[in-house]
Amino acid sequence: MRIETDILVIGSGIAGLSFALKAAKYSNVLIVTKKEQAESNTNYAQGGIAAVTSPLDSYDLHIKDTLECGAGLCHLDAVEQIVKNGPRLIQELMEHGVNFSSSNGGLDLGKEGGHSVERIVHSKDLTGAEIEKSLVEKAGASKNIKVLEHHTAVELITEHHFKPKKRVKNKSCYGAYIYDENYKKILTVLSNMTLICTGGIGQVYLHTTNPQIATGDGIAMAYRSGCEIANMEFVQFHPTSLYEKKPDGSPEGRSFLISEALRGAGAVLRTKQGQEFMNNYDPRSSLAPRDIVARAIDNEMKKSGDEYVYLDATGLSENEIKNNFPNIYHKCIETGINIAEEYIPVVPAAHYICGGVVSDLNGSSTLNNLYVLGETAMTGVHGANRLASNSLLEALVFADKAAINCKDEFKGIKKANSKLIPDWDESGTENAEEWILISQNSNEIKQIMSNYVGIVRSNLRLNRALRRIKLIKKEIEIFYKKTRITRELLELRNMALISYLIIKSALMRKESRGLHYNTDYPQSTAKYLKDTVISNQIV
Ligand code: FAD
Ligand code: SIN
Repeated sequence: MRIETDILVIGSGIAGLSFALKAAKYSNVLIVTKKEQAESNTNYAQGGIAAVTSPLDSYDLHIKDTLECGAGLCHLDAVEQIVKNGPRLIQELMEHGVNFSSSNGGLDLGKEGGHSVERIVHSKDLTGAEIEKSLVEKAGASKNIKVLEHHTAVELITEHHFKPKKRVKNKSCYGAYIYDENYKKILTVLSNMTLICTGGIGQVYLHTTNPQIATGDGIAMAYRSGCEIANMEFVQFHPTSLYEKKPDGSPEGRSFLISEALRGAGAVLRTKQGQEFMNNYDPRSSLAPRDIVARAIDNEMKKSGDEYVYLDATGLSENEIKNNFPNIYHKCIETGINIAEEYIPVVPAAHYICGGVVSDLNGSSTLNNLYVLGETAMTGVHGANRLASNSLLEALVFADKAAINCKDEFKGIKKANSKLIPDWDESGTENAEEWILISQNSNEIKQIMSNYVGIVRSNLRLNRALRRIKLIKKEIEIFYKKTRITRELLELRNMALISYLIIKSALMRKESRGLHYNTDYPQSTAKYLKDTVISNQIV
């Protein structure tokens, strides 16, 4: 089946939805999304959105904090763009019906690691769910937006699909092949503009705060189509995810986040023996930037052999916790911990990818007619380490810029003759008999990435990971070519490629900087004060 639309948006988190609402004012927008519309990293965001809204704050201060956290790699123009547009877009979210927490007649501002003042606009500890709900409702009310749930993008359509023998230099995107999970069919969706807003990659690790949709599909598709990908070595591990044991004794795969905002409100980290330890690592103690805190926890756990450290929120009153952190409070009660009285066992977990598809200040990728927004993009904002709560802000601001730019670009668009574009060819593929391979391969990838490409890396570990991932990637490619597509198979293929890109980038950076720490090169070096860019030369 074929669908034609002005704009195709892949993904329905904050990036995809906020872009779609703006673009729907001048065009028809089709959103495809992998599961139910609200299922996204956005939906689980807790701490909030960093934005300058207080008289005690300033653009200069927010810019300075972002640059400091980014360890020399942030692009100043991109940072200035998000900081200066933040307050306006917070206001716009409120006009969409987002209910942010307030006190004394103004916004209630939280604090998180690396921020020099209180600046996090939030909705208790359920900020993402509140934003997602409002955006989904707004999109549902727009007659120019159509949403297809349980539709997974497989590949971007480029000249590669209709001029396979030619090496095209200045390539364009003409839409995407989309797997309809309801009818188990692959649709050809042709569009004038395509936006990849597919979120993060957390699922390539064993322990992640990310939901299952986060398999890096957008980055993988963009790489296969020839887009530039950058800074994939900078995987952010959130210092504090809840340590839980499954009944069978193995730690759970998808980890519940204990927001940094709890530390902002006064909670402190302690060893399992009850000793505060962050003062030994950084003068900002438990509120140092995430790379420092996650590495400190990793070090303490390695020194002691303990499986977790504690977060102590007992200095906060039960009322304060229940009012400001109801989500965390109730989740911990479910696991048998009253956090007003007991310490919370926490471990670092993969949380956010600072790298991704290279985009300019308008969200344009290096392919014509293809934009990339949100966590999938590498805009230059986060450098080597993202400042807490700058992600939702980045997604909002770049979606706004892209919507403006896209409108102008429509005028000069070069359309492909749709008759030339072939439908997906499934001939020669069969239903797989060996489904077990998928879960085995997926577990293997997660183990390799967690064991060898985690918070602390070395050349030996990275090379070992590379050899293993290359083999798995090759096996999956062979399996993929002869097997009828399923979402799980697409995700597995993408996870293998994402792992490969992370390891390759990590090996290219022969220094330690921000989130990338390699024991063979423990120092930062001026020579590496640049982004690591990878692109697929084959297409
Ligand atoms: P997402 O919100 O992840 O949306 C991606 C969308 O793409 C989903 O709809 C998904 O189903 C869809 N998709 C994926 N692959 C495909 C495919 N192949 N085909 C079709 N659809 C696809 N950041 C902050 O700034 N502040 C916070 O407080 C904060 N807290 C966080 C807490 C948690 C637990 C997590 C996981 C992240 C948090 N972050 C926070 C990070 C932030 O939430 C994300 O970076 C941001 O929401 C990403 O938005 P997005 O729109 O780019 O992607
Ligand atoms: C948190 O609430 O700790 C997450 C904030 C973020 O990832 O920016």
